[in-house]
Amino acid sequence: ETGCFTYDPGFTSTASCESKITYIDGDEGILLHRGYPIEQLAEQSDFLEVCYLLLNGELPSPAEKAKFEQTITRHTMVHEQLANFFRGFRRDAHPMAIMCGVVGALSAFYHDSTDINDPHQRMVASHRLIAKVPTIAAMAYKYSVGQPFVYPRNDLGYAENFLHMTFAVPCEPYKVNPVIAKAMDRIFILHADHEQNASTSTVRLAGSSGANPFACIAAGIASLWGPAHGGANEAVLKMLTEIGHKDRIPEFVKRAKDKNDSFRLMGFGHRVYKNFDPRAKVMRQTCSEVLAELGIKDDPLLDIAVELERIALQDEYFVEKKLYPNVDFYSGIILKAIGFPTSMFTVLFALARTVGWISQWKEMIEDPVQKIGRPRQLYTGATRRDYRPLNERG
Ligand code: SDX
Repeated sequence: ETGCFTYDPGFTSTASCESKITYIDGDEGILLHRGYPIEQLAEQSDFLEVCYLLLNGELPSPAEKAKFEQTITRHTMVHEQLANFFRGFRRDAHPMAIMCGVVGALSAFYHDSTDINDPHQRMVASHRLIAKVPTIAAMAYKYSVGQPFVYPRNDLGYAENFLHMTFAVPCEPYKVNPVIAKAMDRIFILHADHEQNASTSTVRLAGSSGANPFACIAAGIASLWGPAHGGANEAVLKMLTEIGHKDRIPEFVKRAKDKNDSFRLMGFGHRVYKNFDPRAKVMRQTCSEVLAELGIKDDPLLDIAVELERIALQDEYFVEKKLYPNVDFYSGIILKAIGFPTSMFTVLFALARTVGWISQWKEMIEDPVQKIGRPRQLYTGATRRDYRPLNERG
């Protein structure tokens, strides 16, 4: 009893919404985007085609695909003034802090020209975000390593352009490895959308007030940063590094099961998947391909990850609680092999998820009956009482 309310321990807040974009069956480990299985999209499609699918609901015709690719390519540059925002950050600022600030700052450039009630302007805002977030992400990396920003190039594909902006330097030509670019593109596909996760729900709630889409995406980036969500890929690498050797795995598995220990196996478990995360399976295959392409034979972190997965999947605690590797478990090993610092891992997640966020935002704005979000609460505080002056308090 809390006085004015009868507290029902079974009460759970069921904030839910309708969507046609992504379907997840957590028990069966199924993930569909507009009805297409993630495994088929990862294997046969490319990221910009998946962007078109998420935004428009259908796969593009060849002509539609070519036009969409050209539109995105021609929006990849950012306003020169935007570069000044970076100079306000310390060089060692976390790139996710920079992403929150600079993506949010896009509002200052496009707020006045983005009437969210105009379908054309909604689509233009979507294209601008999909096109410019990779440029801003690459700029965040360049700023952190003290190198000059590299402009996007219209002759490169989406993932290729991002890798070029990230790793090229003005002093010499930089050729992007096509196998690595393909792996990067597939990693973007695997992170594109995932139904009503914490950051997508954040974008929807922010957008339900009519806030401009650039500010809403910045809110999504902030939510994704948490180690329980998109920050897990960075946390997985730190965990594998802390484990340091396969012999120490049982010690950490024991800690993960200890209720008095706050340690959790990062990259394991999921709010929805109570089976294998289908993205993790594709990610594990991609990991092997990238390490082979880069000639990395014995990656100690991969050895620890594979052994940790084997041990955990045989452990009754993890089996009983249905804890399986999720999308974040292998992604960090790939990104580290490609050359990204751990601080950039969640930035890459945000880069890819921007299309999911903006597709879900657009779907919500286009819903004729959508209202401002207003989650309900169960009040368990003090009942009504009268104020007591300071001199009457002990
Ligand atoms: C993402 O929602 C999305 O779709 C997110 C995402 C996306 O694409 O947007 O898929 C991306 O965020 C993937 C998740 C990345 N996070 C991590 O890998 C961090 C480590 N995992 C956990 O913190 C945890 O599994 C969560 C946060 C993902 C889920 O947390 P829950 O909801 O508490 O997990 P649960 O209800 O399934 O837990 C069941 C039990 C609990 O124990 P009891 O309270 O029943 O005793 O399992 C335990 C949990 O304590 N548990 C773990 C564990 N994950 C859950 N125990 C040890 N190690 C873990 N990793």
